[in-house]
Amino acid sequence: MEKVLTTHFANERYRRLDTYRQYGGYEALKKAFAMTPEAIIDEVKKANLRGRGGAGFPAGVKWGFLPKDLSHPRVLVINADEGEPGTFKDRLIMSRGPHLLLEGIAISCFALRAHACWIYIRGEFVREAGVVDEAVAEAYAAGFLGKNILGSGFDLDVTVHRGAGAYICGEETSLINSLEGKRGWPRLKPPFPASVGAFGLPTIVNNVETIADIPWIVTHGGETFAGLGVEKNGGTRLIGVSGAVNRPGVYELSAGVNLKEVIYHHAGGIRDGKELKAVIPGGSSTPVLRPDEIDVSFDIESMAKIGTMAGSGGVIVIPEGACMVRALSVLMNFYAHESCGQCTPCREGTGWLKKIVGRIEAGKGRQGDIELILDLCDNMMGRTICPLADAAVMPAQSFIWKFREEFDRHIGEQKCPYGNRF
Ligand SMILES: Cc1cc2nc3c(=O)[nH]c(=O)nc-3n(C[C@H](O)[C@H](O)[C@H](O)COP(=O)(O)O)c2cc1C
Ligand code: SF4
Repeated sequence: MEKVLTTHFANERYRRLDTYRQYGGYEALKKAFAMTPEAIIDEVKKANLRGRGGAGFPAGVKWGFLPKDLSHPRVLVINADEGEPGTFKDRLIMSRGPHLLLEGIAISCFALRAHACWIYIRGEFVREAGVVDEAVAEAYAAGFLGKNILGSGFDLDVTVHRGAGAYICGEETSLINSLEGKRGWPRLKPPFPASVGAFGLPTIVNNVETIADIPWIVTHGGETFAGLGVEKNGGTRLIGVSGAVNRPGVYELSAGVNLKEVIYHHAGGIRDGKELKAVIPGGSSTPVLRPDEIDVSFDIESMAKIGTMAGSGGVIVIPEGACMVRALSVLMNFYAHESCGQCTPCREGTGWLKKIVGRIEAGKGRQGDIELILDLCDNMMGRTICPLADAAVMPAQSFIWKFREEFDRHIGEQKCPYGNRF
């Protein structure tokens, strides 16, 4: 299958400008400068490019939300925070193909008529940030960024900004606050960033992979990109597979690839000849699936039909013998730790989920605890400033709905029947 991003990732030198150019790098930018911004946006719309950061919003439609009035400067912010547990594909793009991202940024900014872009990189990504820094310096020196790029008259400044490693700073309004030097707390929407974003300016926030797809779309056309995927979900996706598989890693596959094929064919099946117990398909916040549910296309609509999400493409594979209560307990610890504390249902709710699931795991669960968890979930879902509370609720509810007997056994036997294995 045709690859959009990873064709040359095995070549260590692809991260350098000279090698990137040998493979045709920055030709798409030249082509873009011969097009109008509106024509580029049209191609992105035709591409059916859905945001790769988790929510899957169509990129071309989001770009259309910027005000038509050009009297205020507008900006692009790249979300390179990649904090969703189980998701590790943006770091691959940054470390192996940083110029794909930079060329995508230059084309996107030209299309959006933005003259400034910030790349917000997770604090822990020390190596990746170093590679991006070097690529930015190379691109400035070669005239692909900066003043009058390639003699087009278009100016663009790109700044690399380092986060400090908080999951909530991946949420777009929190990321904007953090970028402005404020505490990384989500903002109430509206106003949406497209009207009032970074530094009060109209802002588009896009994921790394979303923007790295743009050069290919400009080179080959939106319809060709759309044809690599399925209806409403164009192109390929980087799918990161982790957990109990023989070949964990990042695979570039059609946006409509079958999830079972991802696990059993591409990732080599379950480790140690074991059976599959459960799959978290799109990063830790997406509802868990049982083995009989994974014969499904990975596209956003098909996943929604079975009550889950393709999310950020982080497939976590759980084998037989693993304890689902322990797995949920690990997740609840994470969300309680990462809640920013602004909203009571999230601040208190994630803390209580952690506490109750933790006591069930420890063999101290009480009758009524499962109902208490479900009641808490009902009081959290959709009642907060940002979706972090929902991100904690979705695994909690789905683990109980689909693996209820394990929770009951923990409470009934007052111990973990699996020896606390995960
Ligand atoms: C708690 C939370 C964490 C998030 N973390 C990330 C992240 O690390 N990277 C990312 O691109 N999007 C993340 N998002 C989604 C962003 O808010 C936003 O939708 C995305 O960056 C938009 O880019 P896209 O349209 O290209 O997907 C997160 C959302 C929430 C609620
Ligand atoms: S839902 Fe949680 S993380 Fe999001 S703003 Fe409210 S308290 Fe903060």
